[in-house]
Amino acid sequence: MFTRLREDIATIRQRDPAARSAWEVLTCYPGFHAIVLHRFAHACWLARRRWLARFISQVARFMTGIEIHPGATIGRRVFIDHGMGVVVGETAEVGDDCTIYQGVTLGGTLLTRGAKRHPTLERGVIVGAGAKVLGGFTIGENAKIGSNAVVVKPVPAGGTAVGNPARVISPADPKRSPEHAAFCAYGITPNAEDPVSLALHGLIDHAAGEKQRVDEIVAALERLGARLEALHGLDAAAVDLQRLSAAIQGVATTHAEAVEREHRALTGE
Ligand SMILES: CC(C)(COP(=O)(O)OP(=O)(O)OC[C@H]1O[C@@H](n2cnc3c(N)ncnc32)[C@H](O)[C@@H]1OP(=O)(O)O)[C@@H](O)C(=O)NCCC(=O)NCCS
Repeated sequence: MFTRLREDIATIRQRDPAARSAWEVLTCYPGFHAIVLHRFAHACWLARRRWLARFISQVARFMTGIEIHPGATIGRRVFIDHGMGVVVGETAEVGDDCTIYQGVTLGGTLLTRGAKRHPTLERGVIVGAGAKVLGGFTIGENAKIGSNAVVVKPVPAGGTAVGNPARVISPADPKRSPEHAAFCAYGITPNAEDPVSLALHGLIDHAAGEKQRVDEIVAALERLGARLEALHGLDAAAVDLQRLSAAIQGVATTHAEAVEREHRALTGE
């Protein structure tokens, strides 16, 4: 039990830049209190002490403003930040390392008793403040749900969904495998607005565009008969312009000779 508590405290200190000490987390983080009380409520629920489970859950709600149904399954290192107004339904499943902000509902749209009515969040999902995830579908690993999104369909692993009804705005990033995925506070891409980072991205895009153009020119010249094997696979910056110019001149000469030959054949000169 103490191992889990230490793990929960370490998780909060790691993910919340505002958390200064373990004591602060232990005493001032309603998300932490809600998760700890949910463990007792869930144990009672599984032991079929249903009333006691609901009662503990309601005490936790009164104390923290976070309502987690005792039947919900919550994984390890889950962090509910701020927490006020969070509602987690009976058949919801929250995977390890998920982060949930205030005002989130993991709710249902069905009234069928015993059915899977609430969503499943796979490992590492971040759900932004005020988002509603409604239905018994799955949000894939490391997906991000924007604040105030209303999600009514599955979101693929690594995707980002925003809006009402939510749409996936960026698909999975293959480089962000679960092993390499670092937590981004608030789900924001780190340094996305940093002017140096933006300038570098601009330069990289420009270089990639130039390289593509050089490749297209080389391909076009080869179609015209130039032999430019030496230029294949070179970076745009490494292209020998003199050699390229000589090659272009060669093609032009060959082309002019062919035209002249054709002209002579037609006119009989
Ligand atoms: C959704 C989110 C994870 C995306 O972060 P990101 O990957 O850095 O994406 P960007 O900021 O580059 O935004 C990408 C696009 O989505 C839009 N967008 C971002 N968040 C949005 C939201 N919540 N609702 C609607 N559109 C949103 C942006 O305007 C941008 O649109 P554009 O391409 O037309 O300009 C992030 O914006 C978010 O909502 N995080 C939750 C934060 C939160 O709840 N904080 C609470 C702290 S108490």
